[in-house]
Amino acid sequence: MGHYADLFTTTMKGKWDKLVYIDLFSSSGYAKIENTDKIIKTSSMIALSLPTPFTNYIFCDENESLISALETRVRRDFPNVNAAYVKGDCNNNINEILKYIPSYSKTSGVLTFCFVDPFALEIHFKTLQHLAKLRVDFLILIATGMAAKRNKENYKRDTNSTIDNFLDNTNWRTEYFGEIDTSNESFTQFITNRLKNKFVQLGYQKVEDFHPVRYRLKGKSVLLYHLAFFSKNERGNKFWDITKSYANEQTSMF
Ligand SMILES: C[S@@+](CC[C@H](N)C(=O)[O-])C[C@H]1O[C@@H](n2cnc3c(N)ncnc32)[C@H](O)[C@@H]1O
Repeated sequence: MGHYADLFTTTMKGKWDKLVYIDLFSSSGYAKIENTDKIIKTSSMIALSLPTPFTNYIFCDENESLISALETRVRRDFPNVNAAYVKGDCNNNINEILKYIPSYSKTSGVLTFCFVDPFALEIHFKTLQHLAKLRVDFLILIATGMAAKRNKENYKRDTNSTIDNFLDNTNWRTEYFGEIDTSNESFTQFITNRLKNKFVQLGYQKVEDFHPVRYRLKGKSVLLYHLAFFSKNERGNKFWDITKSYANEQTSMF
């Protein structure tokens, strides 16, 4: 995320009046690595610490204490940044998030980078669709290994609306489990392919593959998640290719 955001702000500064960073699942800015005393910066603090900063920051988290901790840290460490805090579910508060994006005009361009980093598949496609009406590039962490593979049977229940919302499609059960022949597609491929198509319908560049991130457990490579990048502009995809070349599948992309 940091590599991409760095390229984004460095290259786009001067071309756009406003460069906006949106973190829909921002958390508190720092995290402690399990079983160690090591504290690391997380997405929001990484975005704030770039050599060329964004002009506007919009942070959202449904956990009141985490986003309040982030607000306190930003006021302390970055007192001059233009930052807004949305305390609540990003899907329910998308109108408030949109309000904080500066308006564009013929003489004042606004380009936004939106980072989407939920624990599982909590993002609703409709939320992304609202943002996609503007000039927004997205980097979305899709918990394919951590959530999609493990929870398929839970998602299948009529009472579970996770995938309905993720794909904005209440018919996905029929499409995956019946009717259309998806026998060559794993559940992970099914949801990622559907998401790719939906972004193309919104006018985004076609994406061939999402970037897999794995870790090694007892000598085995285990899939954690995929990173999906979407831009309406070819140049965005070129930056993303450069970013991927810095990382291998075992490395965290933060
Ligand atoms: C994986 S963490 C995000 C981590 C952060 N990007 C980072 O680099 O550490 C997910 C965060 O999303 C928050 N969250 C979960 N569901 C949410 C929702 N629907 N809207 C906004 N925040 C949510 C959680 O409170 C948690 O802080």
